[in-house]
Amino acid sequence: MNVENIRLINIRNYNNINLNLNKNINIFIGKNAQGKTNLIESIYMCASGKSFRTNKDREIINFSKSEAYIGTNINLGNYNKFIEIKMQRDKPKIIRINKTELKNYRELNSGLYVVLFCPDDLRIIKDGPQERRNFIDSGISQLRPVYNYNLNRYKKILLQRNNLLKSNKFKKDAMNLLDLFDVQIAKVGTSIVVERYKYIKALANICKDTHSKITKDKENLSLHYSSNIPILNDKEEIEKNYIDLLKKNLNRDLEYGTTEIGPHRDDLLMYINDNDAKVFGSQGQQRTVVLSMILSEVELIKDEIGTYPVLLLDDVFSELDEERREYLVKFFKNMQVFITLTDSENLKSMESLDKTIFNIENGKLKMES
Ligand SMILES: Nc1ncnc2c1ncn2[C@@H]1O[C@H](COP(=O)(O)OP(=O)(O)OP(=O)(O)O)[C@@H](O)[C@H]1O
Ligand SMILES: [Mg+2]
Repeated sequence: MNVENIRLINIRNYNNINLNLNKNINIFIGKNAQGKTNLIESIYMCASGKSFRTNKDREIINFSKSEAYIGTNINLGNYNKFIEIKMQRDKPKIIRINKTELKNYRELNSGLYVVLFCPDDLRIIKDGPQERRNFIDSGISQLRPVYNYNLNRYKKILLQRNNLLKSNKFKKDAMNLLDLFDVQIAKVGTSIVVERYKYIKALANICKDTHSKITKDKENLSLHYSSNIPILNDKEEIEKNYIDLLKKNLNRDLEYGTTEIGPHRDDLLMYINDNDAKVFGSQGQQRTVVLSMILSEVELIKDEIGTYPVLLLDDVFSELDEERREYLVKFFKNMQVFITLTDSENLKSMESLDKTIFNIENGKLKMES
């Protein structure tokens, strides 16, 4: 799987560029604020239809222009896909695949799988559980689009339930409506919990191995799913128990006007040699945990779909020490990789690999020969 070329028109600080990409390694070198992340963002958008930096498409359109365009050819082994995204100010974006317009960008099934690693990913460890849930959710969504649909449904019903709890009109006759919400929320909530459980289990298995390889057996990394919904034998049992828990918590929920029980309170626990990585991990250890998790996600996708995804490394390569860089580079042989660097210092570790180097200056790219 690889991105063959990419055309950007009025995307952030790009005017009009058309790049032919290396099917293995692509390196973008440029000083700060030249357009490196903008390019990574554009490739990411081709896979998921949305940016990882903003929900507002108008921010992606060049300040002085009213519309912008991304076009890309994706090689998916035995066939190609031509993906186009057109953004206009104050209008929903238009996505086309092989010239056919999608009704809704959420329908985008690009066939392009990407895994992004950027400095912000340290927040997966440092910040609160929301960041960890986002990491898990985007990983599962890419593999199972229906998961994303269920997640949105869950959020909607949760909001309705909370509104009902808060409404001072809540009386006995609202109980019927609440029962109805509870049945719905337990059903969709169960499917989320089950998917997360399966995903984290698979990820944890790979991650254990990856992490001990990266740390040369010095560290043992274990990931655990933490949820207030117990995982029982089957979906039916989980759902039944879920409803019971909602009922048990009703008085508390009414008092606070929020729902205590459910996957919106889930967390992912990470332990290095039995110590909580969030509390006891050094900066470098935490960074390595994130690297292990990202590379495990790559392997997991490979296991599921049979080919490696495209790896996007924005501003992280130079931050790793030599040992970790070497480990990462070993991965590169199998897949298409996009790497951003601010100088050419760290190119040595990739000397023997098939690569194309682009120099970026103020939204203009020059290929190094
Ligand atoms: N909508 C926009 N229109 C025009 N320029 C924009 C727009 N959005 C962002 N930019 C500009 O694009 C420039 C490059 O941004 P980008 O994030 O790609 O830089 P970078 O090369 O990754 O830098 P760094 O090394 O600091 O991460 C910035 O100067 C930014 O102000
Ligand atoms: Mg950047």
